[in-house]
Amino acid sequence: MAEQPNKPKNETDKNLILDDERDLLMDHEYDGIQELDNNMPPWWLYGFYITIVFAVGYLLYYDVLGWGPSQEEEYEIEMAMAAERFGSIAQESFDFSQAVLLTDAASLERGREVFNASTNLCTTCHGQNAQGLVGPDLTNDYWKHGCDLESLIVSIKVGFPNRGMPAYGSTVRIADDDLVKLASYIVSLRGSNPTGAKAPDMSRSVLCEEPAPVEEATAEE
Ligand code: HEC
Repeated sequence: MAEQPNKPKNETDKNLILDDERDLLMDHEYDGIQELDNNMPPWWLYGFYITIVFAVGYLLYYDVLGWGPSQEEEYEIEMAMAAERFGSIAQESFDFSQAVLLTDAASLERGREVFNASTNLCTTCHGQNAQGLVGPDLTNDYWKHGCDLESLIVSIKVGFPNRGMPAYGSTVRIADDDLVKLASYIVSLRGSNPTGAKAPDMSRSVLCEEPAPVEEATAEE
């Protein structure tokens, strides 16, 4: 009987094996599963060689020669860059003993200047007259984070990054004495009832307990 090609030849040769694959067949067999010793596909192999070369370069650059920064160094560098750009926003760094409400015209004028300064961006979110745009109206009786001078300073200093307000309004540092003037200016705006005032969002507003320096505002609708 002529031997049929591609058919299992004996008991241990159970699988269908092509003639040109016989040389590649490996001797082991597990549960009837046999294996061909095929070459790796070239694209895979070269990809693998590239990772080896990369790994050697990486090891030299970061570990052996130490040219690249370590994780800790990267962290330190980023923190230093952030401190340089945003300043330290630790609120303890503010000396609240100098946070005295100012009412003289010169200080309020300076506060208005800081509020309107293009670098501080307060007006882009709170409006030219603090009547509220994206940010809340800062002139009515409804506040979320406190309407007194100290709360205002903290609000401005720390910002509400998750709501879109950066610390110090923009990324520019405001000097402590300017901060007091800015906060005093905002206090002075209470009850100013600017045109186009944004309606208070009652879900977020707490009635301001501090007496308004100007006449009582009519925030109730
Ligand atoms: C990118 C927009 C944006 C900028 C710029 C911005 N704010 Fe705000 N501000 C907001 C938003 C939004 C809130 C509301 C935060 C909340 O609801 O918790 C807010 C809240 C406040 C509050 C607290 C209000 C409250 O109800 O307690 C004060 C005070 C304030 N901003 C002052 C300023 C000053 C001063 C500047 C400029 C130095 C400034 N903001 C710049 C968006 C901004």
